[in-house]
Amino acid sequence: MELDINFVRAQFPAFEQASLQGQAFFENAGGSYTCRPVIERLTRFYHERKVQPYAPYEASRLGGEEMDEARLRLAAILGVDTDELSFGPSTTQNTYVLAQAFRQWMQPGDAIIVTNQDHEANTGPWRRLADEGIEVREWRIDPETGHLDTEQLENLLDDKVRLVCFPHCSNVVGEINPVTEIAALAHAAGAFVCVDGVSYAPHGLPDVGTLGADIYLFSTYKIYGPHQGGMVIRRALGNMLPNQGHYFNADTLYKRFTPAGPDHAQIAACAGMADYFDALADHHGLEGTAVARGAGVHDLMRAHETKLLQPVLDFAAARNSVRLLGPKDASMRAPTVALACEKAGADLATALAPMGIMAGGGDFYAVRALEAQGVDQAKGVLRLSFVHYTSREEIDRLLTALETVL
Ligand SMILES: Cc1ncc(COP(=O)(O)O)c(C=O)c1O
Repeated sequence: MELDINFVRAQFPAFEQASLQGQAFFENAGGSYTCRPVIERLTRFYHERKVQPYAPYEASRLGGEEMDEARLRLAAILGVDTDELSFGPSTTQNTYVLAQAFRQWMQPGDAIIVTNQDHEANTGPWRRLADEGIEVREWRIDPETGHLDTEQLENLLDDKVRLVCFPHCSNVVGEINPVTEIAALAHAAGAFVCVDGVSYAPHGLPDVGTLGADIYLFSTYKIYGPHQGGMVIRRALGNMLPNQGHYFNADTLYKRFTPAGPDHAQIAACAGMADYFDALADHHGLEGTAVARGAGVHDLMRAHETKLLQPVLDFAAARNSVRLLGPKDASMRAPTVALACEKAGADLATALAPMGIMAGGGDFYAVRALEAQGVDQAKGVLRLSFVHYTSREEIDRLLTALETVL
């Protein structure tokens, strides 16, 4: 069975907008288009429920119910308990709060492992624990390929390590890291794992329960939803780390690492993401549990994306003037393609814009990963990122435009 791309695109109002006609979107890793159910729920919340939630009057009761529904349904797709999922303002802010909790829990002399493949959000806040006497060990990528080798991780692990932070896939290398294997290695050494799923989750929500991540982070504004950071914290770890919320909320797991007042409307609108994933599952005849249907949607998205990605990788790999970061084989990576070129990435993106290609250039806050691969920081990379709603025709247009600008 193939993904019905016409059905998919009909769920995104952006494709109907006159202002966006003729524009092919290739900066999805920065933030995706929003699906219709999310927009409708957000609008309804602002029109009909914009009151303090969880009070007995109807508008408030419904607002609170929708916020709960978002956690309930998304947690079910992610294969975790409802209270193991919480929402904060962004992934970056969520990691800052988590790092604060680890700072209080860890002892001087304990160690933490970070990578130089990550977006700064899942490395900078952790590295700052060095100020508290925590030993920070860096799991380094191969400078040629950008690959993280699990053998090197094994050399870094010992009984001092409390946490291993790494990406499910990097937003510039694109390679999908073997999360289950890494988590098993870390757990065997007595460490927890914090996985940045921001670049992976838009390509299909994973079954976090099976992956083995203790923390799994994602940004809903890149998964067809509103601007929030989603955070799965498994119960054992969440109850053990010091509470970062108000003291009287300490017994509620999903409130322990979200000290700010939540954005009610946007959390409620996240239920629209579940509506969208459910609509995809229904349309394609997927049955079973929420996790099984989520896995089916994941596989449909991935098959479509992989088919469209290979020609882009082949195109880039065939050009001497272009360095393709990460794997050349589409099955090993996400469709987030960073190219180091003779011209600066931002200049190339500027040249692509009048040709109806929306792309970005720069470092994408993955400064350490680009540095480690010897990419000229002044030029950065051109990044071309797409998702399941991208069509073959848009890929063809991209390749034609690249022929001209590269
Ligand atoms: C891989 C990755 N991790 C983390 C982040 C940070 O997410 P947020 O903007 O929600 O803080 C980004 C944002 O681009 C990202 O691409």
